[in-house]
Amino acid sequence: MKYFHKPVLLSEVIEHLIYDIHGIYVDSTFGSGGHARSILKKISNKGKLIAFDQDQFSIIKNKICEKRIILFNANFRKIKKILKDSKNNLLNNVSGIMADLGVSSYQIDTPQRGFSIRFNNILDMRMDLSKTKSALNILKTYSFEELNNIFYKYGEFKNPQIISRKILLNRKFINTTFDLVKLFNKNIKFLSRLFQALRIEVNDEINALKKFLKQARNILKQGGRLAIISYHSLEDRLVKNFFKTGNIHGILRYDKKGNNLSPFHKRYTKRIFPTKQEIYTNNRAKSAILRITQKI
Ligand SMILES: C[S@@+](CC[C@H](N)C(=O)[O-])C[C@H]1O[C@@H](n2cnc3c(N)ncnc32)[C@H](O)[C@@H]1O
Repeated sequence: MKYFHKPVLLSEVIEHLIYDIHGIYVDSTFGSGGHARSILKKISNKGKLIAFDQDQFSIIKNKICEKRIILFNANFRKIKKILKDSKNNLLNNVSGIMADLGVSSYQIDTPQRGFSIRFNNILDMRMDLSKTKSALNILKTYSFEELNNIFYKYGEFKNPQIISRKILLNRKFINTTFDLVKLFNKNIKFLSRLFQALRIEVNDEINALKKFLKQARNILKQGGRLAIISYHSLEDRLVKNFFKTGNIHGILRYDKKGNNLSPFHKRYTKRIFPTKQEIYTNNRAKSAILRITQKI
C-alpha cells in the first residue's frame, strides 16, 4: 500500500478521541486514510468507522476494504443527512468525530491539481473535481469587491485592493500558478497567503467548517469527543470559539442561574501541538493545532 500523506498528530488524536473501543467513529477528512487506519487498529470488531472525503481520487486510491468502515465520497458539510440516511441511523450514536482540515500532501504534490506554487499548472485548486468553480474562474470573473473580500477575509491581507487591482489589470494573462507567482514576484509567505485565500474560496472551506461543526455537536452522543486539526488561524479561531461556546458565533450563552450553556465540557477542551520531533520528520505538521472537546 502506497501512502500519499503522513498523518499529523496521529497518536494524540487516537489517544484522546477513542475512549470506547466498541463505539462508532467518524473521520470527516479521510485523505490517504492515515488516521482512519489507526482508528481501525484501535477499535474492536464491534466498532465502526464512517469516513468522508470530497475528493474522488483520495477515496479511489486509498480505499480500505473491510467490514467495519463505510466510506462516503462526500463533503462533510452533509454529515448529518448522510448519517441519518444510513441504514443504521447513526445520529446521536457517535462516540467521536475527527477532522484533519485542508488539503493532503497527495493533493498538494499532484501538479495538475494546481494547489502548489512549486509546480506550473492551471490554477485549479478544487478538492471536489465535480464542482465547476476553480481558482482560475475566480481570477477571471470576480469583481474588484469580490476579490477584495476574499483576500481580506481568507488571506488576511490588510490592503487587498492592491492585489485585486493587479489581478484585474492582468487577468487576461493569468492562467497558471507560475503566471500568478510571476505577477506578484513576492516572498513565499505572501504567495502562500494568496494561494490560501483562493483555495478557501474555491472550496468554500470556512462555510463548510461552520456547517460541519454545528451538525457534529448534534450527532455526538453524550460524552462523545470532537477532535479538529487546523492549519491556519481562520480555522483555529472558529474551532476555538465553537468549543468554548457551542455556537459558531462564539457567543457565550447562560441560563437564568448563570450557568454556561455550552454543550462542551470546559475542562476537556484541550489544545495540542506537534512535538519538535514530529515537525522535524513531517514539515506539514509545522502549523498544525489539534483541539479536542467532549460533549456534556
Ligand atoms: C489533511 S487531509 C487529511 C489526511 C488524513 N487525515 C490522512 O491521514 O491521510 C484533508 C482531506 O480532507 C478532504 N477534505 C477537505 N475538506 C473537506 C470537506 N469539506 N469535506 C470532505 N472532505 C474534505 C481533502 O480532500 C483531503 O483529502
